[in-house]
Amino acid sequence: MKILVVNGPNLNLLGRRKVEVYGTITLPEIESRLRKVAEELGVEMNFSQSNSEGALVDRIGEALFDGTDGIVINPAAYTHTSVAVRDALEAVRLPAIEVHISNIHTREEFRNHSVTAPVCVGQVVGLGADGYEWAFRALVRRLECNERESR
Ligand code: DQA
Repeated sequence: MKILVVNGPNLNLLGRRKVEVYGTITLPEIESRLRKVAEELGVEMNFSQSNSEGALVDRIGEALFDGTDGIVINPAAYTHTSVAVRDALEAVRLPAIEVHISNIHTREEFRNHSVTAPVCVGQVVGLGADGYEWAFRALVRRLECNERESR
């Protein structure tokens, strides 16, 4: 099983950026935590980050051709604006779980709405960087159940 983890703009600055909201963990630390979880679960993981909307759309589209089974995505600010990222997720028709480190529902009004969530199977918000792990485990569990049911 292969899981793609996609990170949007400014998440490369985690650890330095608004630490009172996002904490001090860096993106490489999140990646290495997830690598351990992937190893434990016996699944392959591709991890990516881009500040550019087009690059995110390209990476999601590639998932259709590289054997990806499911996507964990933190679209960051594009969550609230990007019809292009939403359409890419919808187009590949792979199960995706959206993650937000902060609770977007208790922050500024413009963060309360997610354009991308309706094309995801679920959303993990407000649980800090641990949310990536819960999303990853939930996605693998879901894919395993689907696989068992289709046998
Ligand atoms: C975020 C929340 C977004 O509103 C924000 O633009 C981010 C990070 C989060 O993980 O909490 O960049 O996606």
